[in-house]
Amino acid sequence: MNCILAVLLLQLLHNISCEQSYVVTNEKLEPFEGDSETLVIFDSLKTTGRERAINGSFKFLGAMNNDDFKVSVELYSSPNGDGDFKRMAMDVPQTSICECFKKFYVQFVQPSLTQGETTNFPIVDEDTCPIPEGEYYIKGVLFNTEDWPQQVPRGILKAIITFFSAGKNVGGLIVVVKIEDRQS
Ligand SMILES: *[C@@H]1O[C@H](CO)[C@@H](O)[C@H](O)[C@H]1NC(C)=O
Repeated sequence: MNCILAVLLLQLLHNISCEQSYVVTNEKLEPFEGDSETLVIFDSLKTTGRERAINGSFKFLGAMNNDDFKVSVELYSSPNGDGDFKRMAMDVPQTSICECFKKFYVQFVQPSLTQGETTNFPIVDEDTCPIPEGEYYIKGVLFNTEDWPQQVPRGILKAIITFFSAGKNVGGLIVVVKIEDRQS
């Protein structure tokens, strides 16, 4: 009896600690082209259905090695959701691509995906480098925010993810999400 109670209590604590105090909804995915060439193609990714799940495919044209390729992420917040965006302090400056995937993709995106089911993009771990070329699908994915920070600003959040090769912008993706308090 005590044991069952202990298990229930542990489950309850687990749920409390894992559930974020906010809910994230996908608003918009907006691909953009590079300055002279585009090596990352996100234009067939869409939000679909009532839940606005991310669906479609993306392409990396050429393996992206750590010496040549970099990624930057600029973050903007519109607290009132009115399109008045302010740059946030949490930006990611141009970072070598494999480091960027290991740090940010692994925390913010990978937990939302099930390899072989909702994507065929390989699992990124310590040894993943270069980021492999190919065309990859994403099937009806909603963000799992378990590993996201506890403190995120409410309102509309815009992330501008830019890929660089030899210092030149080679394309990217703007992700716009809505962040609201979780109604309990
Ligand atoms: C999801 O993407 C796949 C592949 O691009 C497509 O065949 C399918 O129709 C899409 N589903 C929805 C609901 O848009």
